[in-house]
Amino acid sequence: MKVFITGVAGFLGSHLADRLIDLGYEVVGVDNMVGGFKENINPKMKFYKEDCNNLEKMKEYMKDCEIVFHAACTAPDGFSVFSPFYITQNTFQNTMSVLSAAAQNNVKKFIYCSSMARYGSQPNLPYTEEMECIPVTPYGVAKYASEQVIKQICELNHINYTILVPHNIMGPRQNYTDPYRNVAAIMINKMLKGEQPIIYGDGEQKRCFSFVGDCINCIIKVIENDNLNGEIINIGPDEEFVSINDLAKEIANILEFDLNPIYVKDRPNEVKLATCSSDKARKLLGYKTKTTLRKGLQEMVKDIKKKGPKDFEYNYVIEINNDNTPDTWKKELI
Ligand SMILES: NC(=O)c1ccc[n+]([C@@H]2O[C@H](COP(=O)([O-])OP(=O)(O)OC[C@H]3O[C@@H](n4cnc5c(N)ncnc54)[C@H](O)[C@@H]3O)[C@@H](O)[C@H]2O)c1
Repeated sequence: MKVFITGVAGFLGSHLADRLIDLGYEVVGVDNMVGGFKENINPKMKFYKEDCNNLEKMKEYMKDCEIVFHAACTAPDGFSVFSPFYITQNTFQNTMSVLSAAAQNNVKKFIYCSSMARYGSQPNLPYTEEMECIPVTPYGVAKYASEQVIKQICELNHINYTILVPHNIMGPRQNYTDPYRNVAAIMINKMLKGEQPIIYGDGEQKRCFSFVGDCINCIIKVIENDNLNGEIINIGPDEEFVSINDLAKEIANILEFDLNPIYVKDRPNEVKLATCSSDKARKLLGYKTKTTLRKGLQEMVKDIKKKGPKDFEYNYVIEINNDNTPDTWKKELI
């Protein structure tokens, strides 16, 4: 079976490619390398350095693939209110290109990697799949809008489709030089450099962190099970709902770092309390949290220590640069 993966040089896409290749699948992958790394690309796959917005190329490279897993995206949720054009182009528009190519190639199954940003800020926790989506960022809107069009096009063309909703995935290979997202990786990189982590607001925002291996187990089930057509499924744990302050403490504890975080202004439109129910994933995909938060952080520390701490790379242009824009990005202070 031939699987087409977008964003294959990134964190999630590369882990998925490795697992599929181990299981005997043929993998074709694309990535424009805006956030991907060469060392993540499994040499046993057919790789194309290409932007997903190039519809003609997507059509060509996807030929004879039966399954499409679409992960390519620029996903800095909090930053998207400052660069809505670029971020939505790489979230919604690129999905339209991959989706159109998939329909033109008559693929059997389309799996979309959405985000918990689709839910926005809900009055009740944990977030469940049937809740009305009220995203509060351009990234969240673009993810949710993508889901709607995937439903339309896949239903019309009889393509089996599933929407996956991962949240705060972490683990080895996560980009730790990206100053716009991946809070745990940023903190580990900072502390390994001997610098205090920066926390937005009072640090009492709370999240659950999903270990990448546990997410991949679920994705494999979706690839192998044809009875999940039209399902939307949260992927990740609903245990260990932790504040950003406590996350920093846990990392500092692992690194034996003398913690004294730097607190800065709240980030506009940041959702305070967000956690997703894993009930549906448990029921449909046999989801089980095998890796605790602490174990997951230890794995990340090992990976980042091996590669060495690095400077942050401010790769995105700030489209709307004003008083709302955090100094951490404007003045490159992370
Ligand atoms: N990591 C998380 O915590 C998390 C949480 C929720 C949802 N997601 C979603 O999971 C998917 C994968 O996330 P990730 O953490 O692996 O991110 P990542 O940045 O590590 O990987 C994304 C990859 O997509 C590539 N890419 C971006 N735009 C592209 C384009 N136009 N054409 C081709 N390649 C492009 C990047 O170079 C990168 O390698 C994304 O869709 C993201 O929105 C991730």
